[in-house]
Amino acid sequence: MYDVQKIREDFPILSREINGKPLVYLDNGASAQKPQIVIDAINRAYAEEYSNVHRGLHTLSNISTERYEAVRSTIAHFLNAQDENSIIMNSGTTEGINMVAYSWAMPRFEPGDEIVLSVMEHHANIVPWQFLRERQGAVLKWVDVDGDGALDPQAVIDAIGPKTRLVAITQTSNVLGTVVDVKSICAAAREKGVAVLVDGSQGSVHMPVDVQDIGCDFYAITGHKLYGPSGSGAIYVHPDRMREMRPFMGGGDMIREVHKDIVTYNDAPMKFEAGTPGIVQQIGLGVALEYLMDLGMENIAAHEAGLRDYAKRQLEGLNWLQVQGTTADKAAIFSFSLEGAAHPHDISTILDKKGIAVRAGHHCAGPLMDHLGLNATCRASFGMYNTLEEVDKLVEGLELCRDLLG
Ligand SMILES: Cc1ncc(COP(=O)(O)O)c(C=O)c1O
Repeated sequence: MYDVQKIREDFPILSREINGKPLVYLDNGASAQKPQIVIDAINRAYAEEYSNVHRGLHTLSNISTERYEAVRSTIAHFLNAQDENSIIMNSGTTEGINMVAYSWAMPRFEPGDEIVLSVMEHHANIVPWQFLRERQGAVLKWVDVDGDGALDPQAVIDAIGPKTRLVAITQTSNVLGTVVDVKSICAAAREKGVAVLVDGSQGSVHMPVDVQDIGCDFYAITGHKLYGPSGSGAIYVHPDRMREMRPFMGGGDMIREVHKDIVTYNDAPMKFEAGTPGIVQQIGLGVALEYLMDLGMENIAAHEAGLRDYAKRQLEGLNWLQVQGTTADKAAIFSFSLEGAAHPHDISTILDKKGIAVRAGHHCAGPLMDHLGLNATCRASFGMYNTLEEVDKLVEGLELCRDLLG
């Protein structure tokens, strides 16, 4: 039984007030709040168990290493990866996708080789490929979303041509909430010998993920959206792709031996984790993922589906509000603007006075904004601890915005 009030009690920040009003936190798409057990784990790691990992023979280093390495298994379990060796730990999706660009794509791309991506990608899943275009002559092929923000998987599959080497696609749009049928895309791409990178930054937060069932080659997650610490994350790499990757950053931990004229590398995944990692951040992420798995991702998804359906009805019922992305197959993420000249920043500022946190801006999705013909939107993104009453408060806040600005 999913008891949202009980879950809210696990998140201390949710009981604070903002501008004299109870906090209504609807900026989960940008970053989610942290449960007390994650905060406690971070405290404990620093107060009682801290040392560097993989390097020492003393007790604290062994404890730190054990805790840190256990997170690799937790992430593998969370994503249903083949095993923990297919998990490279990192600071989040941005690092994960850049690693794929530098480690896997750069050594194998020839001028004219293509990357297929959708117009609703986050900049983290665009700019690394633009680097490849600038530096190696890669060609980016864009697939548009439909009028309701849906992405037809067949349109992505049809865009795969003889020169396509990679499809780089989000599982869930951070702006529209659109859920992409990545499984069908992966199946078709695999038949054509094309790799698929799935940006799971948003998808992994809102639904159970099984990377083997999806059939992807790369799947990136970012810890701070998964109710874990900022600076934590991971990328799943299919074992076949892992063998094709060359190290991206050089330094400690990723080597086996270094002499003046010789260097040999550690085994994967360590080969791709140079330097002292975010030890405590990863430990916090491990605790966050255990917390999510204890609650059950399918239960979280069911709760959020209720929020989505209710918020969709309420927001789309406001005929003075322009909601972007009305497709039914979406996460509880809503982008909107007020008819007339009201700037999304003004809406966000007024809502903030009511204690409601939403995001306003381009949401790091420039090509989607171009496609929509907008400079910015306001975005309310719901998480596991949000309630139907908070949807009502959002609607009341928007009515106030309309009265003041409309
Ligand atoms: C879909 C998507 N991809 C990538 C990212 C980048 O994540 P991070 O900044 O944690 O690396 C985000 C963050 O907003 C996102 O929503």
